[in-house]
Amino acid sequence: MLLLLLLIGAVTGEVFDEVVYPPQFTMERIVGGEDAPAGMAPYQISLQGMKSGQHSCGGAIIDERWIVTAAHCIHGKSANALRVLTGTQDLQQNDTKYYYVDRIVEHCNYEPRKYRNDIALLHLNESIVFDNATQLVELQHEPLAAGDMLLLTGWGTLSLGGEVPAKLQRLEVEYVPFEQCREAHGNSTNVDIGHVCTYNDKGRGACHGDSGGPLVHNGKLVALVNWGMPCARGKPDANAGIAYYHDFIRTHLSLSQQEEAEVEGEGGAESKDMRRAHCN
Ligand SMILES: *[C@@H]1O[C@H](CO)[C@@H](O)[C@H](O)[C@H]1NC(C)=O
Ligand SMILES: *[C@@H]1O[C@H](CO)[C@@H](O)[C@H](O)[C@H]1NC(C)=O
Ligand SMILES: *[C@@H]1O[C@H](CO)[C@@H](O)[C@H](O)[C@H]1NC(C)=O
Ligand SMILES: *[C@@H]1O[C@H](CO)[C@@H](O)[C@H](O)[C@H]1NC(C)=O
Repeated sequence: MLLLLLLIGAVTGEVFDEVVYPPQFTMERIVGGEDAPAGMAPYQISLQGMKSGQHSCGGAIIDERWIVTAAHCIHGKSANALRVLTGTQDLQQNDTKYYYVDRIVEHCNYEPRKYRNDIALLHLNESIVFDNATQLVELQHEPLAAGDMLLLTGWGTLSLGGEVPAKLQRLEVEYVPFEQCREAHGNSTNVDIGHVCTYNDKGRGACHGDSGGPLVHNGKLVALVNWGMPCARGKPDANAGIAYYHDFIRTHLSLSQQEEAEVEGEGGAESKDMRRAHCN
């Protein structure tokens, strides 16, 4: 499911009150991103339906066995309904590598209707083989500063109602601090401290993005695309902030390593309790 609505508008000058929406969407207007240069974003994956083979969401490789994506991308789905394409910027050049999901860890406080805690981990049934087109991305810990530019990549950017560009798109977006973001959304509590907000600096109004897709700063994963509103109105998009969910991610990754190291027994139950305890 593509979450971000690609609504196009034109901003007259920098005055967001004077936004003008064109009467209709056209492919030509849904521009603002551009083809990612070769070698960019080797951590990017395409999450696909096992049966349909269709691209549904983005995500990022954070470990040889783990993908991180948005919870709404996998909510209600079973692990064996999903596959992960790695190592390509071109969806039609799919002779690279598919991996298969054997476990989904949806954030336990995910609120589907509010898109809160919209983050999930996918465990793969075999280890990813890294090469120059397939790599993991490290997680960002340092806080961002207003005006920091983030790199957004995804296949959803040219898409409206399901059309997906074959080539991975890239777009630079600007980090918007929490208070400013919440205020831009009328002080809505739908924007919470787990979100990292971004704005398309170009001000051209296209909302680009692909649910679950990675936002990276200085080569480190900062956020995953969650939800957005028409950018042309000057409303920032909300993304799941990786730093905020650091414990959630680390706990599951390390517990999983323990489980794989240990064989069985009481460790399993204990791990599950720990998992609950660390779910935030
Ligand atoms: C990756 O390495 C292969 C050779 O092993 C080379 O042909 C290809 O251009 C490289 N790709 C990038 C993005 O560097
Ligand atoms: C690879 O892509 C081609 C062209 O888009 C498609 O026909 C084929 O089914 C795909 N292969 C897999 C394994 O999805
Ligand atoms: C992983 O899952 C896929 C799809 O179910 C299966 O074909 C493959 O054999 C599995 N690989 C391993 C190592 O279990
Ligand atoms: C949001 O809250 C701030 C600070 O309390 C206030 O100044 C502003 O007017 C509010 N904006 C809206 C749209 O309610």
